[in-house]
Amino acid sequence: MYGIHATAVATLASLAIASQTFAADGDPARGQRLFGACAACHSLQSDQNMTGPSLAGLWQRKAGSVETFARYSAALKSANIVWDDKTLDQWITDPQHVVPGNQMTFAGITDASQRADLLAFLKKATQPGVSQTAQGPMGGTGGMMGGGQVPNLKKLDPSDRVQAITYCKDTYTVTTANGETHKFWERNLRLKTDASSDGPEKSAPALVAAGMMGDRADVIFAEPNEISPFITVKCE
Ligand code: HEC
Repeated sequence: MYGIHATAVATLASLAIASQTFAADGDPARGQRLFGACAACHSLQSDQNMTGPSLAGLWQRKAGSVETFARYSAALKSANIVWDDKTLDQWITDPQHVVPGNQMTFAGITDASQRADLLAFLKKATQPGVSQTAQGPMGGTGGMMGGGQVPNLKKLDPSDRVQAITYCKDTYTVTTANGETHKFWERNLRLKTDASSDGPEKSAPALVAAGMMGDRADVIFAEPNEISPFITVKCE
């Protein structure tokens, strides 16, 4: 009796040790900083898709299966992978090796301890329930998912709300609701859309600075068919 019990305890202990590789070895606080390398493309909030799919609820999810993400490659969709400590470690080591032809432009992280840190963080932060809050799992300090979060464009300051756009020769003149005008070389102004809940209201496109030098900007519309009617071709 005693013998059996001891064996059972030993087996349990070794199971616990075996499952303590990868994510469990890492330091989530260091991992949170490393997530900066992912945050430009991935949100941790469910169904908030950017360049890449939301990572909310990642563990035990089948690769390529977020229904609201419309841009998966055929390669990732048909890869028969379920994400867990092991498959995610392989993926972030060298994505192209794991799924050749996938469209995540990320070279990989060669340092195993950095990967363990990152996965330790992700495992917590992608848990259902945790990931739905904008705050994140670490008590909301440190601006956690910072990096990639796009600004919400529903309530705009008059200085950011576009009232009119005129086009003359090679120049767009953007007039904002506070009456200011901004001139851009046509190659420096991008016209975009955002139909998500973060996007602008209809007929109230947003002017968003882009690039480091202050010479570029985006005008973001609610939907594509607003774009042409909004722009008047005229020279003063
Ligand atoms: C430049 C943008 C970009 C960066 C940076 C990036 N990813 Fe991705 N990621 C993508 C895209 C795009 C996909 C979808 C690829 C496809 O469909 O082939 C993807 C897919 C994934 C998937 C599969 C998700 C699923 O639903 O199956 C995981 C996991 C992932 N990325 C994790 C990461 C992690 C962790 C990092 C940081 C170390 C990272 N990514 C950095 C763009 C990026």
